[in-house]
Amino acid sequence: MSNTDRELRVSKIRNGTVIDHLAAGQALNVLAILGIDGSGGESVSVGMNVPSDKLAKKDIVKVEDRELSESEVDVLSVIAPEATINIIREYDVVEKTRIDRPDAVAGVLSCPNRNCITNVDEPVATRFVVLSDGLRCDYCGEIVREAEVANHLNVT
Ligand code: CTP
Ligand code: ZN
Repeated sequence: MSNTDRELRVSKIRNGTVIDHLAAGQALNVLAILGIDGSGGESVSVGMNVPSDKLAKKDIVKVEDRELSESEVDVLSVIAPEATINIIREYDVVEKTRIDRPDAVAGVLSCPNRNCITNVDEPVATRFVVLSDGLRCDYCGEIVREAEVANHLNVT
């Protein structure tokens, strides 16, 4: 069985977004970032530990009839800097974006430090500086490691 045949275990979609080349284990974090828990009625296909040419194994997420917002792509870039975002229209890939790591992410994560100025009664919007293996709160210096990012999401 060729690799191409194996890829087809998750079927092609007509319209929507394919988030491809995710590191194995990231698919559920991607769903969390996109706010997908099944209650919204979207058609979503998820492949986990799928054989891949570029990575030994990869995860892949296909969301029908939806394109991603800029802040969603920003957070994705932190947990999945190697991912490719494909926009599909009428079965064709009309746009392919390789994610770039931003220098900073604003407003999409909450700071785990309870005493941080971003967590007080009149909070200011969060801002994190992107490091190679995580993020640093620009206000209090608290570090959020890459593996913990999905637990501190502020997006719905
Ligand atoms: N895809 C899909 N539905 C479509 C078209 C493409 O689900 N109607 C998926 C493919 O299965 C693949 C991704 O979108 O996972 C990108 O498609 P394509 O660019 O055709 O594949 P590759 O050339 O292998 O992409 P890359 O070079 O990014 O690996
Ligand atoms: Zn902080």
